[in-house]
Amino acid sequence: MSKIVVIGSLNMDVVAIAPRIPVTGETIIGSKYFTEPGGKGANQAYAAAKLGGSVAMLGRVGDDEFGRAMRNNLVEVGCDAGMLETVPGTSGVALIFVAENGQNSIIVVPGANNELRPCDVEAQSSRISAGDIVLLQLENPVETVLAGARAARQQGARVILDPAPAPGVPLPDELFSLVDLLTPNETEAAILAGLPPGRITPERAAIIARDLQQMGAPAVIMKLGEQGCLLLDEGAQTTLVRAPEVNAVDTTAAGDVFNGALAVALSEGAELLDACRFAVNAAALSVTRLGTQIATPSRQEVEEFAASREAQQRETSFGGAEPGAA
Ligand code: RIB
Repeated sequence: MSKIVVIGSLNMDVVAIAPRIPVTGETIIGSKYFTEPGGKGANQAYAAAKLGGSVAMLGRVGDDEFGRAMRNNLVEVGCDAGMLETVPGTSGVALIFVAENGQNSIIVVPGANNELRPCDVEAQSSRISAGDIVLLQLENPVETVLAGARAARQQGARVILDPAPAPGVPLPDELFSLVDLLTPNETEAAILAGLPPGRITPERAAIIARDLQQMGAPAVIMKLGEQGCLLLDEGAQTTLVRAPEVNAVDTTAAGDVFNGALAVALSEGAELLDACRFAVNAAALSVTRLGTQIATPSRQEVEEFAASREAQQRETSFGGAEPGAA
């Protein structure tokens, strides 16, 4: 089993549950709130460790209660926090609204996550080994993400980039050339491809995935929410892995649990399609619970869930070079 190294963010999530997301200028009454460790990097590290991976996290927390709680949460799940440093100032915080239909909106205030510099990543590059899996997201400065991808490539690791949150400016071309696997959701995929964001059909997703592949990532997995995920592999084969039907109460964790699970399966030697099946099931279970790290299912839960739905697992292959038009 290879090691998983997450280079990424940690945020304390402050979550409010309400009937719906308020519009601009509106105040509405919610039903409850809670705080819990989150952040895209930490969520992926937590999920990978809880699902049985050997995980180390490289990141920064502030010198505050939130920072200590976030570190402890990772340590308790078995993640190596030796590359997690505390810096002066405040930790990252995310203010999250969750509506009763499970949808959310988030504001992230990066705090210490902005203190993770390219030199910090370069200083730890010897901790990455050939064959490791390096998970990156976009909640740290983009030059740091680029340094992470360069270091991973130099060490012979496999690089998975989750381009989340959707970048406000185009990403450097070099970043795509250093990535082995790009895992956007449909909004991020559209934005990266220069298209207006919105819900897309699997057929349209296949076309957009091809555009992203041409930007340099050899393989693309597009996360399509309750539709499942679309895999475009190095051989230009596109396969839709459908998600099981579940009762979604909070979708906040889904993308991160997906990536953590994907990394675990790949670290154990699974093929991409099997890794997608595992990740889709783990993400589907996570949306049946409130929260992010607390919503992560165990390995046993995912395996039992997968076994119970095996007969219904449906996949659609779009074949070779020409997917159906949208
Ligand atoms: O992807 C979910 C995460 O996004 C939350 O945990 C929040 O911290 C934001 O980073």
